[in-house]
Amino acid sequence: MKKYLINGGNSLFGEIDIESSKNGLLPILSATILTQEECVIHNVPDFLDIKNMVNILIHTGLKCKYDGNTLVINGSNANCNEVGLELTSPLRSSIYTMGAYLGRFKKAKISYPGGCDIGIRPIDLHIRGLKDLGAKIIEQHGNIYCDGSEMRGDKVFLDFPSVGATVNIMLAGVLIEGTTIIYNCAKEPEIVDLQNFLNAMGAKIKGAGSSTITIKGVKKLHKVNWTPIGDRIVAGTYMIACAMCGGKIKLNNCIYEHNEYLINLLSRAGCNILYKDNSIVMETTRRPKSIQKIETMPYPAFATDLQPQIMALQCVSSGNSIIVENLYETRYKHVPELIKMGANIIVKNQTAFINGVDKLYGAEVKASDLRAGAGLVLAGLCAKGYTTINSIEHILRGYDNFDGKLQSLGADIKIIND
Ligand code: EPZ
Repeated sequence: MKKYLINGGNSLFGEIDIESSKNGLLPILSATILTQEECVIHNVPDFLDIKNMVNILIHTGLKCKYDGNTLVINGSNANCNEVGLELTSPLRSSIYTMGAYLGRFKKAKISYPGGCDIGIRPIDLHIRGLKDLGAKIIEQHGNIYCDGSEMRGDKVFLDFPSVGATVNIMLAGVLIEGTTIIYNCAKEPEIVDLQNFLNAMGAKIKGAGSSTITIKGVKKLHKVNWTPIGDRIVAGTYMIACAMCGGKIKLNNCIYEHNEYLINLLSRAGCNILYKDNSIVMETTRRPKSIQKIETMPYPAFATDLQPQIMALQCVSSGNSIIVENLYETRYKHVPELIKMGANIIVKNQTAFINGVDKLYGAEVKASDLRAGAGLVLAGLCAKGYTTINSIEHILRGYDNFDGKLQSLGADIKIIND
């Protein structure tokens, strides 16, 4: 088992490139199932969630070949529309095969998805949306059986702007006859990138980024050459690290608007942040001020995937803060670990009350999921003394060369084996 060993206290200085968005790439990779022609995807990071998705593509019959960090995918011989638990349980976005298989084969049998243990995470909105398009879906013995032979475009009203449900309906809707309109869809930048990717393949989709997406079905999709957007959650993680440790960092491959909400919060905390030519430059010289109240909500509001990291920042800020987690029932598993490091946090239901302390102290802690783990890394970076983080396999699922990039900024962090 691998662990991070961090000797905290160093300020961060330097420049790093932000990797492609994990949550943007996963739907894009799923969308490659929809064409028989070649898809060339650049800047593909080397971490587990992406490898697991590529394994699903290979299982589906697509040929996947790496040329450095460019992935060349050829789906001319794809022939499999079933995927079992072994491949679906490692990641939540395996559920995108439901929409992609329905789109390509008009039929699917898939097992339930896994993913981070942060809440109940049902898929009722995915299933209802696909049924609205005419798919017949039966859930039985842990499998989902889908028959899309009579699918056609229709209106879909989502009760909640679910990212995953929006992706699945886009994937299923792009190759069916008629017009599909998704109301109350997710507005995340990753949805916009998926729309742009599909349109570059010949799809007719508009509206992504707003709350209504319109898809005019086309007969086929063709080859594409694509570079995905930078990962706003990863960029946000490094920004919060700088706010906690002090220093000056430049993050390349960022889009300012994607992190605008966070930038506003960090400016209120006392950080200086500039944006030029797809780079964010951030400087901070004093102890951050607490932000009175932060609530997680769908984009463009504050991202739940940055909640553990911003909580780590509030732990060392001057003053009191309240965080409300609105998306996931159990996304506070980092709290007892932060408390071990000296944080002052009380949680009542979905609300965390944080009283900033002067210092956190190194301790042995455990990453319960990807972003909780990232929050603990940030706490370790600014703590006094040594922090050991166990179960870092969760973190390695979604951050590319995290320790290496932090080292290049001056942090004292390394991976050790048990
Ligand atoms: C995506 O998950 C991300 N994952 C998550 O990132 C992120 O936390 C989430 O969006 C919200 O931004 C990927 O993109 C792979 P949702 P997803 O459907 O699509 C409820 C990370 O750390 N819901 O928007 O699963 C659900 O329970 C991960 O990178 C239903 O009730 O999120 C949750 O409360 C973790 N029924 C809320 O909606 C459904 O059918 C948001 O879920 C679907 C969702």
